[in-house]
Amino acid sequence: MVAKVPDIAPTVDILLGNLEDGVPASDKEAARAGLVEVGKTMDLGDTALWTRINSLDSPWALDDLTTLVSEIGDKLDVIMIPKVEGPEDIHYADRLIAQLEAKAGLTKPLLLHAILETAQGVANVEAICGASPRMQGLSLGPADLAANRRMKTTRVGGGHPDYLVRADPDPDNAEASRTIYQQDLWHYTIARMVDACVTHGILPFYGPFGDIADTVACEDQFRNAYLLGCVGAWSLHPVQIAIAKRVFSPRPQDVAHARRVIEAMGDGTGAIMLDGKMEDDASVKQCKVVVELAQELAARDPELAASYGF
Ligand code: GLV
Ligand code: MG
Repeated sequence: MVAKVPDIAPTVDILLGNLEDGVPASDKEAARAGLVEVGKTMDLGDTALWTRINSLDSPWALDDLTTLVSEIGDKLDVIMIPKVEGPEDIHYADRLIAQLEAKAGLTKPLLLHAILETAQGVANVEAICGASPRMQGLSLGPADLAANRRMKTTRVGGGHPDYLVRADPDPDNAEASRTIYQQDLWHYTIARMVDACVTHGILPFYGPFGDIADTVACEDQFRNAYLLGCVGAWSLHPVQIAIAKRVFSPRPQDVAHARRVIEAMGDGTGAIMLDGKMEDDASVKQCKVVVELAQELAARDPELAASYGF
């Protein structure tokens, strides 16, 4: 994995050194040492370096925090804490990191990102987001969350063919087949995450999509999260990087439309008709969300800037 870092780093916004699930118990120390090596020796350019440490109730979390903050605290931007249950977990990490930062003489505060992956965490989501000024964002952890809630899906993110609504029967033909529509298992949780994050001025992310071969469903799951307000998603495999970039950057036609509405609305107040649709103060704000995101992304990506005509 370390050998792939120089090729992958320039293609992503964030590179995350994962020490938690996915790393066998026998390799925990080696993974931590490997991340320290990356932090000390590799130049990642503009790409942020994050880590996911082991959960706070594991035998590794204390050494993860102690080693990483002391050794590469100046290279790390964000520490992701898995299985956060409530604000007390964030308070604990915040205090410990403050001590380690002071000891290491760090001047830039490390930020915290919580993974929402237990029912209790979801119940406490607002308090988690507001637990520390270090809080940078939240990610959905659909696999652990499904297990903890005793949901009956064995998939990592995405829908399930049995979670559906069915059209009414044909009154003249009770035997006729009825259309079914698969529903999004994650809608409720993502919507709660987005509201809690916006309330506290931090950023919501979709987490993992485990069916690497099903790039179409991955794109659908990412797009649902994007439309609901998420700013990004994890890529578990290089094939998901292009999907995430495509989905979380507004489409050029949507940016062009948003700019047209803003232009037509003049000072942004009142109401007008454009192509048969009502536009007003509120819809201009919606359009500004799209254009401002496009501008932020274009500032870092000349190809995107050209596609938006900036
Ligand atoms: C991610 O950590 C998940 O459990 O889905
Ligand atoms: Mg998890």
